[in-house]
Order: sequence, then C-alpha cells, then structure tokens
Amino acid sequence: MTFSKRDRLRLLGGAAIAALAACGGGGGSTPSPAPSPPPPPPPPPPPPPAVNILRDVYAANFPVGAAIQASQIQTATEDRAILEEQFSSITAEYEMKPDIIAPNQGSYNFAPADAIVDWAEANNIAVRGHALLWHQTTPDWMLTGMVSDIRDKLQQYVTDVVTRYRGRIYAWDVVNEVASDSAGAAAPYRNSNWYQAVGGPEFIDWAFEAARAADPDVKLFINDYSTEQSSKRARLLAIVQDLVSRGIPVDGVGHQFHLQINADPADALAAIDAVDALGFGLENHATEIDVSVYSDPAECFSSGVNCQSSYGTRASDVPDSIYAQQAAIYRGLFDGFSERDSVTSVTMWGVQDAQSWLNNFPVSRNNYPLLFDPSRNPKPAFLAITDPDYEI
Ligand code: XIL
Repeated sequence: MTFSKRDRLRLLGGAAIAALAACGGGGGSTPSPAPSPPPPPPPPPPPPPAVNILRDVYAANFPVGAAIQASQIQTATEDRAILEEQFSSITAEYEMKPDIIAPNQGSYNFAPADAIVDWAEANNIAVRGHALLWHQTTPDWMLTGMVSDIRDKLQQYVTDVVTRYRGRIYAWDVVNEVASDSAGAAAPYRNSNWYQAVGGPEFIDWAFEAARAADPDVKLFINDYSTEQSSKRARLLAIVQDLVSRGIPVDGVGHQFHLQINADPADALAAIDAVDALGFGLENHATEIDVSVYSDPAECFSSGVNCQSSYGTRASDVPDSIYAQQAAIYRGLFDGFSERDSVTSVTMWGVQDAQSWLNNFPVSRNNYPLLFDPSRNPKPAFLAITDPDYEI
C-alpha cells in the first residue's frame, strides 16, 4: 500500500476530525437527566508510513536533481513542494538555453534563469547549468558572419553567462548533442548548424576554453543522448578522447538517459563504465532521465510514424505491469549509479508526469515517464529507488 502526500493529509485531517468529535463539540445548556458514559473514542487512524526522501537516500552518493520550469517555483505549487522536499539539484528545462538568454544580439534576458538560481540558493538546492551550446537552441544571430565573428560571439556569450553564475552553478553542459547519430561525412560529429557554419568541430574547443576561463571551478560537461547504445557511445567517446588528449578542459560526460520501457539498465551502466575505462578520471552525470512507458521504433523518432499508440489520458490507463517494469529500470539505474564513484550527479527530466516533454515528443501522446504521477502521487518507480524493501 502506498501513501501519497494527499493521503497523509487526508489521514491527518481525519485524525483532527476524530479528535474534535471526541471533545464533544460545542456545549449545550440543557442539563442531561441521566448522564450516560461517553462513547469510546474511535480508534486512531494507522500512522502513515514514513515516505523516504530521495535527496536523503542518495546524499552520500550524488545530488538528485530534476529539470524545472520557472513557472513551477514562482508560486507555492505542489511541484515546488515536491522539489523542496525531495530534490537536491535542479536544471532549468529551457530558461538557460541560448535562445532564451540571448534571443537578440546585444541584450540578455537573464530574469528567468536568475529566478531559478535565486530560488535554488534560498532552498539549499544546487544548480546544474544546461546548456551553453546546443544546435536546437542557437539563436540565428550567433551563426552569421565570418568564422572569426562566430567564434567571437560564442566566446562572448559563454564568458558572460558563465561569469554571471560563477560560484552558483556546480556544472555546465558546455556542449549538448554534438555527436552524430550515424556514420556520415562529419562523424563522429553531428553535421549541425554549428559544424557547418564553422566548417568543423572547433567550436567545441572554443566553448570549453571560454567556460574554463570564466570560472576555474565549475565542472564542464559534454552532454549527449543514447550513450546507452554502443554505436552512439563510441562516437561520443571518440570526441571526448580527442578533447581530453588535446588538453581541452572537459571534466565529465553527461548521459541524458532518455530511456524506453524496454530498456536494460545494464546498457546505461555500461556507458558509465566506458567513460571510466578511458582512464581520464572523468566524472559521469546522468542528466535527463526519464523512462517512457512506450517502446517505439527508430522511425517514430525520425518521422513520427509507427509510434506505439497512447495508453490514454489518465495515469490509471497504463497497466500496472508497465509501472512495475518502469520501477525495475529505475531501481537498476539508481543501484548501479550508487555503486560507481564516478557518478556525481543524477537528474530526472522533470518532477511529475504532466510536465514531461515526452507528452509532446516524438508525437503528442500522454506519457508517464517520471517518479511522480500527474496528481503528484509517488509512483512505484519512486518507491523502488527510495525503499530497498519495496517489492516491485
Ligand atoms: C527539451 C525540453 O524538455 C522541452 O521543454 C523543450 O521544448 C525542448 O527541449 N535533450 C536535451 C534537453 O538536452 O534540453 C531537451 O529538453 C530534451 C532533449
């Protein structure tokens, strides 16, 4: 049996009502001729079981994070309460991306990112920075002009952003998704807008060097998806190997770990082990974990066809067996991360299922990939990683 926050409140409310009833309510003035013994008080409700706290369970291993949107913390939302209680790290889901911070050349929009960092500090929550360079969120102005102009603009942007949050952010994804998904002319690099504008991968060096110059202490990461797949992993690690051996200041590898319900946690852990096996002493961060309740073929992601059909709009539409499978994947991941010293941060890509980007990607379809359901109740996946005695 599981107890949500709402259940706990309900139980507490029930106890208060029972206590009031036992007091007999307001006094009447009519004397009672034959006082009868008061009825025995109803038995108290059973005490709710202690719900473990994620950030405490893994405190000795790594901060546990969630991606958040500024709107989730601007007012006293249920999501904010969960964050304050459960998480020790946050990542801005989009407020720190270049197209939000610098939509136009020459001016910055730092207000949303500032609000997130201020709130985190006030609540003793660490901030992971995401992401200084990503092909999907690069404003057009950054990629115009000569290569030297592009370099100047990138260096200026990275310098200004990293300097602004110096000492307040513990790690930055300096470059996001620069590895290619398949063998091609640019492989192992993604043939992205950046790669094409610069005519090669040098922009990666520029971004790391500017970030290091702006903050000597912040940890600098190269972040990518599908590292649980060996071919993508090999391309990313070829890039990492090249960067580190040339003295580019890379501190670690970020693994997004957007997984599907047919995932084997061993594949994700193999990605951590492969980074360790490079022998550079790099850190590993799990940066964007979610476990889709679907298992889609590749063409669903490339062209939106043959995607598994939706379970439905209610969390209860998903079979219990799927939630159990999801819980087992989460337990496998968190157990494996805990056993590996190089894993120094683990972040969920959202607080609760209604927030998840997977409700709209790769197609519009309800998904339930996180630790809390849309009503903010803890799911089997949450119990599986916070209570070793929980039976999946
Ligand atoms: C996603 C956000 O969740 C969406 O809200 C936004 O519209 C697009 O970006 N890999 C990443 C993240 O590195 O930044 C992406 O986040 C998800 C995939």
